[in-house]
Amino acid sequence: MSILKRGSTIVLETKNYHYVIAYDTFGYVHSVHWGEKCPIEDYVVDDIGNVNPNHPNLDQIRCEYTPFGKTMYRPCAVKLHFSDGCREINPAYSSCKIEGEEVHITIKDCYYPLEMTLNYRVHYDYDIIERSVTFNNTGKDDIVFETLMSTELTLPATKPYHILNTNGSWGAEFTPTDSVLDGGSLTFESRQGRSGHINSPYFIAYTEADEKNGRVFFGHLKWSGNFKIKAHRDFLGITRVTLGLNSFDFEHVLKGGQSFTTPEVICGLADGLGNMSRNLNRFGYSEILPKNFADKELPVLYNSWEATEFDVNVKDQSALAEKAAAAGCELFVMDDGWFGARNDDHAGLGDWFVNKEKFPNGLCELIENVNALGMDFGLWVEPEMVNPDSDLYRAHPDWAYHYDTRKSNEIRNQLVLNMTKPEVQDYIYNCLNDILNENNIKYIKWDMNRPFSETGGENLEHPKMLWYLHTKAVYEIVDKLKANHPDVQFESCSSGGGRCDWGALEHYDEVWTSDNTDAIDRIFIQKNYALTRPVKTMRAWVTDVNWYNRDTPLDFRFNISMRGVLSLGGNLNNYSDEDISVCRKYVDLYKEIRPIVQFGDLYRLLDIDKDEISAELYIDKEKSNSVLFIASVNTRCIKKAVPLYIDGLDDNRIYELTFEDKHYKKSGSFFKYVGIPIEIRKQYYNNIIKIKAV
Ligand code: DGJ
Repeated sequence: MSILKRGSTIVLETKNYHYVIAYDTFGYVHSVHWGEKCPIEDYVVDDIGNVNPNHPNLDQIRCEYTPFGKTMYRPCAVKLHFSDGCREINPAYSSCKIEGEEVHITIKDCYYPLEMTLNYRVHYDYDIIERSVTFNNTGKDDIVFETLMSTELTLPATKPYHILNTNGSWGAEFTPTDSVLDGGSLTFESRQGRSGHINSPYFIAYTEADEKNGRVFFGHLKWSGNFKIKAHRDFLGITRVTLGLNSFDFEHVLKGGQSFTTPEVICGLADGLGNMSRNLNRFGYSEILPKNFADKELPVLYNSWEATEFDVNVKDQSALAEKAAAAGCELFVMDDGWFGARNDDHAGLGDWFVNKEKFPNGLCELIENVNALGMDFGLWVEPEMVNPDSDLYRAHPDWAYHYDTRKSNEIRNQLVLNMTKPEVQDYIYNCLNDILNENNIKYIKWDMNRPFSETGGENLEHPKMLWYLHTKAVYEIVDKLKANHPDVQFESCSSGGGRCDWGALEHYDEVWTSDNTDAIDRIFIQKNYALTRPVKTMRAWVTDVNWYNRDTPLDFRFNISMRGVLSLGGNLNNYSDEDISVCRKYVDLYKEIRPIVQFGDLYRLLDIDKDEISAELYIDKEKSNSVLFIASVNTRCIKKAVPLYIDGLDDNRIYELTFEDKHYKKSGSFFKYVGIPIEIRKQYYNNIIKIKAV
């Protein structure tokens, strides 16, 4: 039992920490403590009372969830108006229900028919608590929400926190940003209709931390649409973070008798960034990822995009498939270009019907060829979009978001479909369901290549609800398709990694990490992806991309891609037999180590940013089998004899490894505390080392 109640104090207990809540006699629900465990009887909360002689008093309350109203002026978690125009919320604690690993604390407005229930689910082993809020309109009239956060987290008052988020872009996803919040507010958000490439729907906060040590707080919003993360530090040094749906251009109307539950937030605390990543990784595949594939090894796939772009047809794709099979691939994914009048990005989106010139006998012919080679088949789609040059748009111009009075801006020659319309949802579901019923398809790459604009939808009584309703509709369609086709894997893609949040991870089995497949850039992109998400969701292709005019060796490229879910994406037609056998060698090795990479723990030993060498160790849960990837791009000033301290092994067991012809048989503690010297004197150095317990 991880939830304890003593008087008005509620303690959520995880393996290493306590999260403590208490209500006072005035009905305020306080955040008392989040950190190391203390005796329960020591946790008390003082009544602050309702009187605010000179306003700091009420702003001092460490509320679990701050409503707008009274004399509280700090950022609030919820703001709304009632039908009579009143914009105050005046809530007080009402009840607490403990059910297994969940606790639900209900707060009721003292004057209006509004109930708010703070929901908590404890994941003891991972030091993680999931939170959300349920609103209940128990009256008859509408309640209109203007701000509707999922969670407010109060961090222990201490010196200023570093707040980590991302400031990325297409091709540079997950680029970290680290700001010290000394006072005032920091905001990270998306207004694009998707979580996007720029900021991410999470925060990580620490005062002093590195891979191994230091208290690290984090919160991840499970949401793939517009979001807002706001961290605020007040004069007293209290840092509060709110996470939720973006209140920009937002409205949510709760009719009488209706209830609404916000997206959830994964809240956690860890000792060091390494432990944070490992806990999230394990938590992800055991608790969040869709069950169909969560515990299955994901296949090595080939994707046609970089080889053929839109120029797909049965003959050329079949020829590519032969090469992919020879390289050891298990799944062949045909990307964009197979449908409608899709010869480039100007036409066809929305017409999810096979292009008969390219595939005269439908997709079946190609799929049979692929299956005969021993591979499964996968297909690319971009269901939320339409090209104005398409039969769908000509028939239903009103199916795209638009305003009648102005021209819609196109991005990549496409518009966004109004997914809040039931007829649009039905069309998309039926098209995809038919394709899956008629063909032996095992993989869908669901792409989404532009942010929203001109978001008018004449169907909506409350148009600003579209941001929420769009993402909800996407989740519902994916879930329904998955339920109907449980053996089909779904990948979330949005111009690369534009929709890689924990909401997406709850509905899709994996994500396309980035369109940037340059192996050197990928070291950074993948490192930052895996900081906060499960490795087994990180698709990583080996390709021939050469954006920078550097010829990165094939084995180096494999070294980087094998740290995620290995895939191939180069033009195999240009590969020599020798190249194909190099691919085969690495694909075979990957299949051998795949359970360790996809289900193991990741230890970042050397950091490319700080050490010029990237060394990452993956180890299985039993700490018996491990694989160590080392790569370095350049050698400066003879990077010689750097000691590599191999963390992650069991101190008390003996392990064997061979590094550059030198064989070691030593204890885990030796590898960890004494380390082995490594000497890097090579451009594009790369090495994959298996480590086995004796
Ligand atoms: C963007 C994706 O990120 C690419 O991998 C590819 O699928 C293209 N779209 C196809 O249009």
